[in-house]
Amino acid sequence: MTNVQKELSAQDYRKIDQAHAWHPLFQHQLLEQTDLHVFEQAHGTTIVDSEGREYLDAYAGLWNVNVGYGRQEIADAVYEQIQRLPYYPLSQINIPATLLAQKLTAILPGDLNHVFFCNSGSEANETAIKIARQYGRQKYPGENRYKIIGSYRGYHGFTYGAMSATGQARRRKAFEPLVPGFIHVQPPYTYRYAGELSESEFGIACADGIARVIRWEGEETIIAVIAEPIIGGGGVLVPPDNYLPRVREICDKYGILLILDEVINGFGRTGKLFACEHWDVQPDIMTLAKGLTSGYLPLGACVTSDALFEVFLGEPEENREFAQVCTYSGHPVACAAGLANLNILTEERLWENAERVGSHLLKQLKTLQDLPIVGDVRGKGLMIAVELIQDSDKTPVDTAATKKIVGAIQEKGILVGKIGQAVDEPENIIFLSPPLILTIAEADRIFEAFRDVLASS
Ligand SMILES: Cc1ncc(COP(=O)(O)O)c(C=O)c1O
Repeated sequence: MTNVQKELSAQDYRKIDQAHAWHPLFQHQLLEQTDLHVFEQAHGTTIVDSEGREYLDAYAGLWNVNVGYGRQEIADAVYEQIQRLPYYPLSQINIPATLLAQKLTAILPGDLNHVFFCNSGSEANETAIKIARQYGRQKYPGENRYKIIGSYRGYHGFTYGAMSATGQARRRKAFEPLVPGFIHVQPPYTYRYAGELSESEFGIACADGIARVIRWEGEETIIAVIAEPIIGGGGVLVPPDNYLPRVREICDKYGILLILDEVINGFGRTGKLFACEHWDVQPDIMTLAKGLTSGYLPLGACVTSDALFEVFLGEPEENREFAQVCTYSGHPVACAAGLANLNILTEERLWENAERVGSHLLKQLKTLQDLPIVGDVRGKGLMIAVELIQDSDKTPVDTAATKKIVGAIQEKGILVGKIGQAVDEPENIIFLSPPLILTIAEADRIFEAFRDVLASS
């Protein structure tokens, strides 16, 4: 036991927790009836609670423990860095931040060469939004380009700017009014909204919807489009193949920046190092977090292209530098964790395993589409969703039914997630986002748990 852990029973911890800890997205009135797990340790894909129960974490924490739990190299790097230099602000140079920026830009596509570090995905998007707006003022002096177009169902974070870019009413409503200047368009959610259109017709229709909004608003008022290549928390929405390339073309046509939020998608999750590589699209700004350290320590990054970065260069009296400071930007210990994590990811080429095991699991799960309750099975790499329905009109099952199924899968020793609070509709989507080290045998265990539970639901 370390000095932050006392040896108490799980019930004792629950009692203390109930009195003092405020959990995210949680109705505390129910806490007494809910035995939250007290997780104490983990290794590989397995997490163990204080009562000794083991679970295959098919959720990877919160879509983020990409290299799996218990990686000694990361623990060693963190320990050494804390001893050597625990902190200094990025007003000067610290070696882990410099080397991580170098490593990151070496694996990112194209000329995404300039890294602004922060602490989370929300902060990465907050930073991207501010960079985009400042860029607008400096690139187009005299114009007022500030609006940002996002997608309904997209999620970009909990801070005000990132929440304003988010297109999920239930994450926003209680906090409105939000930041002005954000517009949302229809997401490329083929299963529900393509109607009579083919997948590729629907991809074009969704992208052209963005072009129409740009014209309706006046192109001289828009500075950026923000998108997750594959919307994650909004339901694992894999877009038609022509969607993202078309969005890129539209941005180029109107001189608008493309911000790709790869907070979930990045670092191998979808079977490529970065999801935009599936469609050969390079953004002007990419935002990253989660898999950057595989959750071992908090770290986010906002990375920009050369052309964008140049707009921030000038004489001191022009004040063109990016007007943001962050105490923990480039924190040496978090960056040391990031560097050790990326070394594991690239040495083990984990995106290739995500592609191989993910394709196998997706293929298996698709066989369940014969069951009346299974509406759609979709995904890429190790980012997969199963959407549950009640009838041939695709009526979603209700939230309670989904919770019961998630609970029954958990009883079989597999932790899976339910897409929660994306929209004011029943929560009928279960997602899988396991560590990228998942084996075929573990994928089969996940499949069998789904098969057995769904067949009897
Ligand atoms: C796509 C996406 N962007 C941004 C965020 C926000 O990241 P964080 O929770 O680290 O602030 C999330 C969180 O789940 C996310 O899924």
